[in-house]
Amino acid sequence: MTLTPRYPVFLHGGDYNPDQWLDRPDILEKDIELMHEAHVNCVSVGIFSWARLEPEEGVYDFAWLDEVIDRLWKGGIHVCLATPSGARPAWMAQKYPEVLRVDENLHRPRFGERHNHCLTSPVYREKVRQMNTRLAQHYHDHPAVILWHLSNEYSGDCRCPLCQDAWRAWLKEKYGDLESLNSRWWTSFWSQRYTDWSQVEAPGPMGEKSNTSMWVDWRRFCTHQCRTFIRNEKEAVQAVDPTLKTTANLMYRFWDYDYFSLAEEIDVVSWDAYPGWHSGDDTHTGADFAMQHDLMRSLKKQPFLLMESTPSKVNWKPVNKLKRPGMHLLSSLQAVAHGSQSVMYFQWRKGRGAAEMFHGAVVDHDGRSDVRVFQDVRQVGLALEKLAPVYDSPREDAQVCIIFDWNNWWAIDYAQTGHNKKMKYNETVLMHYRQMWERGIAVDFQDMRGVTDLSGYKLVICPMLFMFREGFEQKLRTFVEQGGTLVMTYDSGVVDGDDLAFLGGRPGGLMDVLGMRGAELDALFPDDRQAMVMNNGRRFPVTELCEIPEHLGAEVLATYGHDFYAGMPCLTRNRFGKGTAYYLAAKVNADGLDAMYQEVLNHLSLDRALDAALPRGVTASRRGDTVFLQNYNPQPVRMRLTKDYTDLLTGSVQPRKLILPGFGVMVLTEMTKDQEE
Ligand code: GLA
Ligand code: ZN
Repeated sequence: MTLTPRYPVFLHGGDYNPDQWLDRPDILEKDIELMHEAHVNCVSVGIFSWARLEPEEGVYDFAWLDEVIDRLWKGGIHVCLATPSGARPAWMAQKYPEVLRVDENLHRPRFGERHNHCLTSPVYREKVRQMNTRLAQHYHDHPAVILWHLSNEYSGDCRCPLCQDAWRAWLKEKYGDLESLNSRWWTSFWSQRYTDWSQVEAPGPMGEKSNTSMWVDWRRFCTHQCRTFIRNEKEAVQAVDPTLKTTANLMYRFWDYDYFSLAEEIDVVSWDAYPGWHSGDDTHTGADFAMQHDLMRSLKKQPFLLMESTPSKVNWKPVNKLKRPGMHLLSSLQAVAHGSQSVMYFQWRKGRGAAEMFHGAVVDHDGRSDVRVFQDVRQVGLALEKLAPVYDSPREDAQVCIIFDWNNWWAIDYAQTGHNKKMKYNETVLMHYRQMWERGIAVDFQDMRGVTDLSGYKLVICPMLFMFREGFEQKLRTFVEQGGTLVMTYDSGVVDGDDLAFLGGRPGGLMDVLGMRGAELDALFPDDRQAMVMNNGRRFPVTELCEIPEHLGAEVLATYGHDFYAGMPCLTRNRFGKGTAYYLAAKVNADGLDAMYQEVLNHLSLDRALDAALPRGVTASRRGDTVFLQNYNPQPVRMRLTKDYTDLLTGSVQPRKLILPGFGVMVLTEMTKDQEE
């Protein structure tokens, strides 16, 4: 399947901001030449161009953009055309202050910066609609234009009076009457009962800070506002031409909005990936970004686009380190390995001034192409051309599904419990994901929406699934009953979708499935000692969180090693219906997880991307018949292949005793009989 039917090839390019160079036609001309040299075939244009596109209210100037796009097209370069709503022009902020966002301290900052408008403001929505309509009328059938890039990195919340009204309206719609809101928000505590809708305000440091049911609703409301904002943008452009698809560029570990929900509003998921390579353990970073790529692929269960990445370094981390040789290709092809149909950058050419003048770019201030970064980019462009045969191959079907849910994430982060504000939901999910990544086993992510279907999976993993919403426990029960294998951890099934505790034991509704009840949650200090002791005597350190369980008949695979709960179950297995449910009661280290998953996987025959032992720091993932073999170690590693393969990147046949270079990547296709002869 292609995300860009008007140009169905791997896209290579990035954010192109020619508005900075309109007085330098020589540079704009040179850009096209350099794009050819870098094997760039597509750029994103107009992302922050509002001030140039509508210099005065109602006065539109598209002439400069016509020239830019025509020049690109003459050079054979395609365009993702942006709507400019990521930053509004000064005149608009001056004339209509309501377009500016009010912060959590109920203070409205003045004009400046970007990504700081109110998503509710009818004026802003109307201005966006007018702008998008004009852009669509003008460019929808330009042969260069292949995709709408809606706004930029939607984020944040606003607490202006308009948003407060919208919040109350959303709550009325959800709860119908105040009594129902009072009961679901448990307002009988601390005398919080509301007696009139007008008393309800947005939570925040200036008002109610602690009611978690209210907070979770606030995040749902903010997601909803962003969704309707996106809908307004999308409807404007697609009213003119419904065939031109839309994307929004999403972000790493982004907390503000529920991305599963947001993704329902757009046609194509794209995202901006900025791994901090060489800042510690690159294998950890590799697994972390593999997980994010898989999450992005899972949002719509379709390929995605890597919309931004840096050709060299960023300028906003505390330390902005360059990618070491090899890493640019590896990092770029990692996205492709997980289902991306592009490798795009921020940005094409470094500006001379302002905030991002020192952010890595394909073309540096010296404008040269005979330099390392430019040549690294060119190498990726060439690689993507060689990978053309893989374009239509989807990422392999996963047999493993990890449940990752934004509502759960918010509920955990808001909860005042074990390790306040440090429950590390993402890190915990990553620890489980990494067990599969290291084995070359494909993973899907799903959340707890009604549409979620677990039936195709062999293994479902629920790390810290604190909240069960939409009756998800019933889906898990059916999954196990019908023969599936479930892994569930401590701190699961504690609250329902309203963030109200389950009465009668946890995990709510699944205690018989697990043969366990999570009775008490203990939190450890760094110096506290605890261990998981397997039946064969192997011991693994446990830190941070331990649940003391009540044993309801599950088979005990490991027990606690210390303290007053020494000898009590720490890891159990229960047969239920035709399936099996594992319960891990404590945060065990990676080796302990490895031992657990060895046990789990012994009973399941799961497909692996490559039939070979993978050294530490090496992983494999598959698209169709092609295997992306990646080494996140700086050193070369030795491996043994069990079949004959050709590397699509070099065209050369690989010896079965393989040496994979440090930060090396190979794209292996099995050799056909003819090739072998
Ligand atoms: C984000 C933004 C870009 C740019 C880059 C810098 O992803 O979308 O406009 O600021 O960060 O890394
Ligand atoms: Zn607002």
